[in-house]
Amino acid sequence: MCGIVGYIGEKNIKKILLHGLEELEYRGYDSAGFAILSHNELSSFKSVGKIQNLIEKTKYFETQGFGVGIGHTRWATHGKPTEINAHPHSGEFSSVVHNGIIENYAELKTMLQKKGYHFLSQTDTEVIIHLFEDNLKEQKDPLKAFEKTINSCKGAYAILLVTKIMPDKVFYAKNGSPLIIGKGEEGIYFASSDSPLVGLAKEVCYLEDGKIGVLGIEDFYTLPSIQPLNINKSFAQKEGFRYFMEKEIYEQHRVLLETLMGRIQTDTQQITLENIDDSFLEGIKSITICACGTSYHAAMVGKYLLERMAKIRVNIAIASEFRYAGFVMDKEELFISISQSGETADTLEALKLAKKHQQKTLAICNVENSSIVRESDHTILTRAGIEKGVASTKAFASQVLVLWLFALFFAQQRKTLEKKDIAQEISFMFAAIKATQVNNKMHERIKKLSKRYLHGHGFFFIGRDIFYPLALEGALKLKEISYLHAEGYPSGEMKHGPIALADSNLFTIALMPEHLLFEKIKSNVEELSARDATICAISPKECESADDMIYIPKAQSYMEEFFSMMVVLQVLALEIAIKLGNDVDMPRNLAKSVTVE
Ligand code: F6R
Repeated sequence: MCGIVGYIGEKNIKKILLHGLEELEYRGYDSAGFAILSHNELSSFKSVGKIQNLIEKTKYFETQGFGVGIGHTRWATHGKPTEINAHPHSGEFSSVVHNGIIENYAELKTMLQKKGYHFLSQTDTEVIIHLFEDNLKEQKDPLKAFEKTINSCKGAYAILLVTKIMPDKVFYAKNGSPLIIGKGEEGIYFASSDSPLVGLAKEVCYLEDGKIGVLGIEDFYTLPSIQPLNINKSFAQKEGFRYFMEKEIYEQHRVLLETLMGRIQTDTQQITLENIDDSFLEGIKSITICACGTSYHAAMVGKYLLERMAKIRVNIAIASEFRYAGFVMDKEELFISISQSGETADTLEALKLAKKHQQKTLAICNVENSSIVRESDHTILTRAGIEKGVASTKAFASQVLVLWLFALFFAQQRKTLEKKDIAQEISFMFAAIKATQVNNKMHERIKKLSKRYLHGHGFFFIGRDIFYPLALEGALKLKEISYLHAEGYPSGEMKHGPIALADSNLFTIALMPEHLLFEKIKSNVEELSARDATICAISPKECESADDMIYIPKAQSYMEEFFSMMVVLQVLALEIAIKLGNDVDMPRNLAKSVTVE
């Protein structure tokens, strides 16, 4: 996830900005940069890779006395992680840094190009700076020109801008992405999260959405709702949550909105996926989706969605199996690899094998400059931001959302769904994303309930259709962080063997969506209940044979129920693991990126 810092003051501006950027490293980034305006000189530096590269690059650059500065760590979403695409973006006399996405950047860019503006980068951000300088031609008041600029941009953003026209001030705008302004003894600080401010700012203002303004060194107390900042660094990085995993569960709603951004044309109710056009999918007769672990569970969901919506045959394969099995590989097959890290050795090798067999390749990945992205013909980025918790949560959510988008995109191309059906799926999608907002009451209920699920001889997670891979994922989450034995099963399969284990010490977590095969799964639950299994049902509807119920809100679609239940399962695993005293973020024996076979 991108990060922003800024400074107004007399101290070593470069040092303060670089320190701020280092404090943002925990969020993940692929390039960084800063711009300083001092004594009417605007200097900008950027580099790809670690902040250390930026430190090295600017080691001979110094400023004396008062100035203003802005800095940025970038996690690529629009355009590759190159120096040109890194922030700040500069015009003739101003520079800008930006978090978020400007959804209508393409149309703004075309308009500016027609006026003769030359664009260097592939980013959405660059439009802001040219638009601002263009607006200044007609509007002499820089704040009015800035307001006009921001009001032309649709989307989510936190923006800082400096300009020679007002060399002692920083312009700011916030909508949907966090932006904080702090005051300390040595000046005014800006940041996209608390951690760069800890130890420097004593008081802070958390800007509200819709705020646009300009600030000088004397103006801090004109800001609303100023409060003291007294938190430590580790608390700041976890944004107040106990674990990164918990923070990542809670940020899924925001992450999924970012995953969606620019990919749905609300006016035409069409899906557009950057870099993927009709010709890429032309002639494709079937698909193989290949991945490991949680990403494999997302692949399984993808199979149900693609077959159902785009009416295309989909094989799914665990990458470590695929590598050596010698499966038949058809040239008319599309090979999709799914990976959070983009570095998983088994998935990468499977992808290379597909390329050797001349298959078209598509990556669904979270890391833009990763090996899997570089190796693939095309990529759809999941845009989940860095995931610190070893147990994947928000990455899984974003993978499923991308697969849903891709299934609709393919259905659009193949005309297997009517326009009205696609429009309905889009409305379901927005509702499903909303359903990932964690409800405090639900979290408290699970906290209490989890006490009853700490012992016993194991867990079965059961579901049907897409709730079967979700059951597998729920079981994997619990295994990884609680070290309890848990298995996922298609609920109709229980009677073919696993039901032999049923007794009162066997816990069954039953996924019971109202919109998909409720009655079928209900009979499977009754079979287990008759054998004394302890059953916890997750459903919007009551299930009489369950010992415990976790209710999810009534939904419009099974996909909305899927995303609601996903959150419940993540929180359940989290709370059980915390009660057992485990380190949720660093479970034993596991690594975040598995780059060995
Ligand atoms: C589980 C988990 C792993 C990964 C798997 C693949 O919580 O994180 O199962 O999903 O190791 O990793 P990526 O997606 O990076 O290829």
